[in-house]
Amino acid sequence: MAEANLLQDPLRFERRVPPCAVVIFGANGDLTKRKLIPALYRLAYERRLSPSFAVIGNSRTAMSDEDFRSKMRESVEKFLEDSPFEEALWEDFSKKLFYLAGDISKDDLYQQLGAKLQEVSGTFQTQGNTLFYLSTQPSHYEPIVEGLGKAGLNKGAGWTRLVVEKPFGHSLSTAKTLNDNIQKVFPESSVYRIDHYLGKETVQNILAFRFGNGIFEPVWNRRFIDHIQITAAESIGVEGRGGYYQESGALRDMIQNHLLQVMSTIAMEPPATYESNAVRDERAKLLRSIRVPKPHEAPLVAVAGQYGPAKVGGEDLPGFRQEQGVDPQSRTDTYAAVTFWVDNWRWAGVPFYIRSGKRLPKRVSDIAVFFKQPPLNLFGDQSLRPNMLIVRIQPEEGISLRFLSKQPGPGMQLRPVSMDFNYGSSFGMRTPTAYETLLVDAMIGDATLYTRQDMVEASWRAVQPILDHWETAPFDFPNYDAGSWGPRDSDAMLARNGHVWRIP
Ligand code: BG6
Repeated sequence: MAEANLLQDPLRFERRVPPCAVVIFGANGDLTKRKLIPALYRLAYERRLSPSFAVIGNSRTAMSDEDFRSKMRESVEKFLEDSPFEEALWEDFSKKLFYLAGDISKDDLYQQLGAKLQEVSGTFQTQGNTLFYLSTQPSHYEPIVEGLGKAGLNKGAGWTRLVVEKPFGHSLSTAKTLNDNIQKVFPESSVYRIDHYLGKETVQNILAFRFGNGIFEPVWNRRFIDHIQITAAESIGVEGRGGYYQESGALRDMIQNHLLQVMSTIAMEPPATYESNAVRDERAKLLRSIRVPKPHEAPLVAVAGQYGPAKVGGEDLPGFRQEQGVDPQSRTDTYAAVTFWVDNWRWAGVPFYIRSGKRLPKRVSDIAVFFKQPPLNLFGDQSLRPNMLIVRIQPEEGISLRFLSKQPGPGMQLRPVSMDFNYGSSFGMRTPTAYETLLVDAMIGDATLYTRQDMVEASWRAVQPILDHWETAPFDFPNYDAGSWGPRDSDAMLARNGHVWRIP
C-alpha cells in the first residue's frame, strides 16, 4: 500500500495483517528459534495473523517439513514467554510451516523456492505477497538477494519485501556496498532493516511521551537539560557467540545500531505527521547532526573495555579471552562508552553519554535525562541533586521523575523522591515482544520502526573514526573485572565534563 494510503487507512492503528508468505533464510539458526517462530506463533495465538499465511524456512541442513515443525515446536515451548501453548492452535499453525533445504549460492534453490511459493500461494491464498527475511550470517545477505533477483522472486503477483537483520555492514563502506547491492534488486521502499530496539514498547513510548504530552517538550532542550546518559548493560557474557562477537564488539553490536536509534528517538525533532518517512526523516536528521569525531579526538570521546575473569557471587566467571571461540589475544571491546555531541540548535553543548557492555553487574537498559540545577540554592549548603527523568527500557519498564522534596519534620532538609509510571501496574497487560511488533509492521508495510539507509550510514559515520582508532590503539586488556561496571577510563571520560555515571 502506498504510504499516503496507509496513513489514511483507519485500520492502520489496529494492525490487521494481510495474507502473505514469510520466507526465512537461516531457518536453522538461533534467531529463528528464539525469536521469529515464537513471535509468529504468539501472533497466531492472538489471532493477529491472516488465516492466509505460511512460512517457508530455508537453510542447508537436510530436514523434512515434519522435522522442521517438531524443531519449531520445541522452540515455541521453550522460548515463548508468558503464553500458554495450545495444542489445537499449534496443529493449525504448524500445517503452515514448510522447509526447503538448499545452498543459497546455487540458482537451483531459488527455482525451487519460486515453485514452493506458487504452491503455498495456491493452498493458502497468500495472494503472492511475500516477506523475505534474512536471518543468516551477514556474508550470505548479498548472495541471497542476488539469487532472489536472478530468479525474479523480487517481483511477484503481490508485494515483496525484504527484512534484513543486523548487522547492516561492518563499517561505513561495507554498509554502503551492501545497500548498493540490495538496491539493484529491491527498491528502498521494500527494504526493512530491522533494529529490534525500535520495536520495544518502551522505545516506541518515548515518542508518545514526548509528542503526545504538552508538558515535557518545552523543557526538552539545552536550556533545561544538562546531559543524557543511555545505558544498555548485560550481565551475560557472549553465550556461545564468541566467534561472531569477536568480529563485532560492543560498539558495533549495540551502539552503532540499537543505542544510536534510541538516542535519535530521545533527541529528534517532532515529525510533521506520524507517518513512516516523516518519523524517519527526523531520526535521520538527528543522526546526521551527531558530530563526527576527528581522528585525534577519538581517544577523548570513547573508551573500550574488555572483561577479565572474576569470582562473582561464589562463581568463577571466565574472562572474554577464555570464552569459547575467542582468540586468547583478542582486542575486541566487550564494553564501549562514547560521548556524542549533537550539533544542532536544540542540543548544542549537551553531551550524550552512551555505554554498553557484557558481564556488567546486571541486565538493565535505560535512559537518564539530567536536568540543570535551579539558578539559586535557597537551602543552605545542602547539595541539591539534579532532577532526573529515567526511561526504563528493560526490565521493570516504566518512567520515573526524580525531584527533591522536603523531608517531614523540623527544618528544611531536602531529599530526592520520585514519581513513577510502571507499565505492569498501569496497564496490567502483557507487552508484545519487539519481534511481534516488527513482524506485523513489515507484513502491513509500515516501515516507521525500521531503519533507512541514510540513518544507517549516518550512525556508521558517527562511530567510524572510533573504530578506526581502535584498530591500532594500545589497549591494556582486560581492563575490567567480569561483574563490575566497566573500566575506570570510562569514569574519567565523564569526569572531564564534571559528570558521573549513574548506577542504574
Ligand atoms: C543483539 C546483540 O542485537 O541485542 C546481542 O547482538 C545483545 O549481543 C542483544 O545481547 C540485546 O538485546 P536485548 O533485547 O536483550 O536488550
